Amino acid sequence: MTLQTDLPHQARELVTKLGDRAVVCDLYDRTGSAVYHDVAGTDTQEVRELIALVRRVPGPVLDLAAGSGRLTLPLLALGREVTAVDLSEGMLGLLAARLEEAPARLRERCTLVRADMRTFSSPSRFAVIVLGTSSISLLDAEGRAALYGTVRAHLAPGGRFVLSTVELDAMDGHEVEVGFVGVSGRSYRFFERWNPDAGHRVVAIFPEEPPDGPSDGPVTVCTSTIAVVPADRLEAELTRAGLAVRSRHALTGPGARHRDILLEAEVTE
Ligand SMILES: C[S@@+](CC[C@H](N)C(=O)[O-])C[C@H]1O[C@@H](n2cnc3c(N)ncnc32)[C@H](O)[C@@H]1O
Repeated sequence: MTLQTDLPHQARELVTKLGDRAVVCDLYDRTGSAVYHDVAGTDTQEVRELIALVRRVPGPVLDLAAGSGRLTLPLLALGREVTAVDLSEGMLGLLAARLEEAPARLRERCTLVRADMRTFSSPSRFAVIVLGTSSISLLDAEGRAALYGTVRAHLAPGGRFVLSTVELDAMDGHEVEVGFVGVSGRSYRFFERWNPDAGHRVVAIFPEEPPDGPSDGPVTVCTSTIAVVPADRLEAELTRAGLAVRSRHALTGPGARHRDILLEAEVTE
């Protein structure tokens, strides 16, 4: 098995120790999607703040990089028509299953589209376009420029683009391990390596071994490489793309390792 070179050291050691038991996958592929859904479901502050911004602008919503629907379902609950776009079949499959269980009045207002957010194209125009959970960080500079074009082409007059990003201090420890519990009650070990020179962080998520000793079955290890795009840089890029930032909302305090920031922008010309 070839491992990416900038995997957090401890994660690399664990994978080596697991040997053939380690099943390394991308956090958003068919296998990783279920883990993402389990671990991401626990953070609700961004959802609350984002929904509060969307509530002010009536009309249909385009949910880019919708994933398993962490934002899609609350947006539907607001009474909106929602188009949910994602590249991952696994993620969209989870969202489709959640919609199947949701009340019909929500399900009927949701359209699922498997597409790349950089090249997504629809004749519809949207009052609000959302891109949550710092998903902008999954794109490189060229990809972000393409995305801004998509946003501009699909925003209705007076519409808003609401997106979030994460900032990290270069002075912070470059590698951390955090333990946490998913919505399923399952425990995970989360390793993160921040490479300020490369401008990205690499994360690896392992299920916690059961306390009664390791079993001999496969262990799913999910990894993802995520750019770190500070809010100032995003704002400058958005301005160049003809999108003016109208408000900024800090979602976490200044002491936190990850500082989540929500930006709200509109078309300027
Ligand atoms: C951090 S998750 C966010 C999911 C969801 N919005 C949430 O809040 O939980 C990022 C999502 O972006 C999707 N994704 C990654 N690159 C993409 C692209 N180029 N176009 C569309 N979706 C993409 C992944 O499949 C994943 O579902």
